[in-house]
Amino acid sequence: MRVLSVLSSKGGVGKTVTSLSLAVTLAAQGCKTLLVDADGSATASSFFRSFDELPDGSDGCCGIYDVLFHECRAVDAAREVRLNLALLASDPRMMKVDAALLRQPAADLLLARALRNVAAGEFEYAIVDTPGVWGGMVQNAVLASSHLIVPVNSEQMAYDIAVDTLSYVLNQMDAYERPCPQFRVLLTAYRETNACRDIAELALQTWPQNLFETRVRFTEEVKRLSADRKTIGDRKSATLREDYNNTAKEIISWLTTPTAQTRKPRRVAVKTGKPKTGKPKTGKTRTKAIGVTAA
Ligand SMILES: Nc1ncnc2c1ncn2[C@@H]1O[C@H](COP(=O)(O)OP(=O)(O)OP(=O)(O)O)[C@@H](O)[C@H]1O
Ligand SMILES: [Mg+2]
Repeated sequence: MRVLSVLSSKGGVGKTVTSLSLAVTLAAQGCKTLLVDADGSATASSFFRSFDELPDGSDGCCGIYDVLFHECRAVDAAREVRLNLALLASDPRMMKVDAALLRQPAADLLLARALRNVAAGEFEYAIVDTPGVWGGMVQNAVLASSHLIVPVNSEQMAYDIAVDTLSYVLNQMDAYERPCPQFRVLLTAYRETNACRDIAELALQTWPQNLFETRVRFTEEVKRLSADRKTIGDRKSATLREDYNNTAKEIISWLTTPTAQTRKPRRVAVKTGKPKTGKPKTGKTRTKAIGVTAA
């Protein structure tokens, strides 16, 4: 099973929309997919289960919390929510996950262990939606993942934080003496404005081999779908569906390409400030450690 975590230390960049949409898309394409909701807000879970139905640890009602802390098997806690799609649900107990992790030995590896025990063939992909604040659960997700997807909602701050998030991941992996999972950056909520084009250009300079070609376009449909707790599988949403279909295609070819070697982090100069497309860049230059994995 390939484990792909969707992460960024910035909230509101489209992690949940991306996790949900990719999980639904991969399942619709016939791939057995496990959506892991690792966020205590349980937003992804709420698309499939009402608040009352969220796990509480009682018999037959287990979720990710029970998998992490109560020796429940991930396959037993996962519930089929669509054809080919199962959900490992979150619930309010996950709001206090960091405190619970403090009491566990090898606390950073609980999710990795749980997912490693999922029998081969049970699921092809696990998509992990992570919280927007770096903590024990994001750390668990990174250590459980073969691949990372970092959404950048086409804003300068999201770009900056994506750079920082990836640097942090690399430092962490160095500390653990583990290879860094491969990663790709996905532009979300993209509009054809100068500001978005500038961020896209900056992202391409920064991650020339690690940027999805697909840009998920901004569409008001996302808010309507969220309000009704519908996914792109439930209702026509041409833009979003097309964009996540294309992202899923890129993911499948990324995952099926012979494993690329993870190269050592290198420092590259990143232009900041307000570079204008088509003109010489005037933004300040600063240097950041950026992990580069071959695509
Ligand atoms: N393609 C898009 N077009 C328009 N709005 C979008 C798009 N993708 C996401 N959004 C909006 O951006 C907001 C944040 O999205 P989402 O909840 O997926 O972010 P998140 O990174 O999971 O946030 P958090 O860190 O709080 O969990 C939502 O209001 C969502 O409707
Ligand atoms: Mg979210």
